[in-house]
Amino acid sequence: MKKTIKNLMIACVALIFTGTAIGAVDSLRGSQAIPEMSKEPAKMQQMVVKGGVDRSYKQQPPVIPHDIEKDKIDLKVNTCMNCHSEKTFKAKKAPKAGDSHYEDRDGKMLETLSARRYFCNQCHAPQANVAPLVENSFEGLK
Ligand code: HEC
Ligand code: HEC
Repeated sequence: MKKTIKNLMIACVALIFTGTAIGAVDSLRGSQAIPEMSKEPAKMQQMVVKGGVDRSYKQQPPVIPHDIEKDKIDLKVNTCMNCHSEKTFKAKKAPKAGDSHYEDRDGKMLETLSARRYFCNQCHAPQANVAPLVENSFEGLK
């Protein structure tokens, strides 16, 4: 019993410390209380990288090497597919969305994009030239 109480106290202290550590990270949201409306983050210039950006690891969804400020993905339109679809990619000189994007959940190949891959920016993100929020020593593929 005594041991349980002691362990519980250690856990509480650890929690307080990690809590403070997390609080110290200056996130994009800033140090605002959760119920408060946050300010709109500053608009960042999205990077344009000719030839694309090297992947950091196998199977990484490649990052988007162009501006997507004007692109739109909703129930009716997906402007990414104006350039990345099986029908348009050649004319637009864009890479076709990967073959995996045409597979349904049972592994069957479809003729058109799988619904599982419809929301491109769920996996692919544009890039901006900004300092990382926290130090990161990750080293990817060279
Ligand atoms: C006007 C045409 C066009 C539209 C619209 C467009 N793209 Fe692209 N995209 C390109 C071209 C061209 C490239 C190749 C750029 C290069 O390599 O220099 C590219 C590259 C990419 C890549 C990198 C692929 C790789 O293998 O490195 C990703 C990911 C991507 N686009 C995702 C998107 C997403 C997501 C959207 C919608 C939000 C989108 N694109 C809208 C033309 C377009
Ligand atoms: C669930 C995550 C996910 C979604 C959603 C998704 N992708 Fe991808 N995408 C990936 C991964 C992972 C890869 C790399 C492996 C591969 O090619 O399948 C990739 C690769 C790509 C490539 C490079 C293909 C190549 O041969 O080099 C393009 C272009 C691309 N995606 C475009 C898109 C577009 C456009 C959409 C939306 C219509 C989209 N993706 C939606 C995960 C995703």
